[in-house]
Amino acid sequence: MKKIIIANWKANLSLAQARSLAKKLAASRPAKNLTAVLCPDFVALGEMANRLKKSAFLLGAQDCSAFLPGAHTGEVAAAVLKQGGVKYVIIGHSERRANGEGAKVISQKIQQVVAEKLIPIICVGETAGERRLKKTKIVLAKQLQEVLAPLPSKHVKSPLIFAYEPVWAIGSGLTPEPLETAEICAMMKNLAAKAGFSRVTVIYGGSVTDQNAGEYLQYPAIAGLLVGGASLDARRFRRLLNF
Ligand code: 13P
Repeated sequence: MKKIIIANWKANLSLAQARSLAKKLAASRPAKNLTAVLCPDFVALGEMANRLKKSAFLLGAQDCSAFLPGAHTGEVAAAVLKQGGVKYVIIGHSERRANGEGAKVISQKIQQVVAEKLIPIICVGETAGERRLKKTKIVLAKQLQEVLAPLPSKHVKSPLIFAYEPVWAIGSGLTPEPLETAEICAMMKNLAAKAGFSRVTVIYGGSVTDQNAGEYLQYPAIAGLLVGGASLDARRFRRLLNF
């Protein structure tokens, strides 16, 4: 099965840096068995759509509005992202959850994204404290259930990506064991299937590098990777796409 590698640039790059990185990447070819996605910030998105048009890279956004287009100052609607060439949308990243984004809003955003036939990348993950208390599976089951349960049944066949991103692994250089990660990804896929969602895939994110990517991708249950820091350097990210 084709694996997916998604670059989350977060708010790390100036427009000039985003341009330069996209230019370097656009010329490269990810391995045949990989789908590669770049998620720049909203301002860079428009330009990236043009720059990447003839490349092997697809475009993703880092967030979207929970509402339909309308009087919602500061929001960017999923429909407009689609018009801008976006195919994937990261939803509920822990950095947004830490700023107060809750399950209800996350679920509304997923609904907007799937209604536009875009693919949401729904982030879930336990904190270091929850892991110490051995609550990882309980926390993940709750996070999954609370965003899937409110989705209308017409969306059960929509393709959804869950990104298992332990909060303690993000940007820390710490990572969970690949085998344990594969078991967790398989558990999440099963839980989603039990809830009726038949097209769920689960990827891993958190301190992924060109060195450790292969250790995760060797497991069929891990459908891909969500990459932060290691996606900001063209050479490193190219190595990651050709391991
Ligand atoms: P790092 O790869 O920098 O740990 O970030 C992971 C992440 O948050 C991707 O969404």
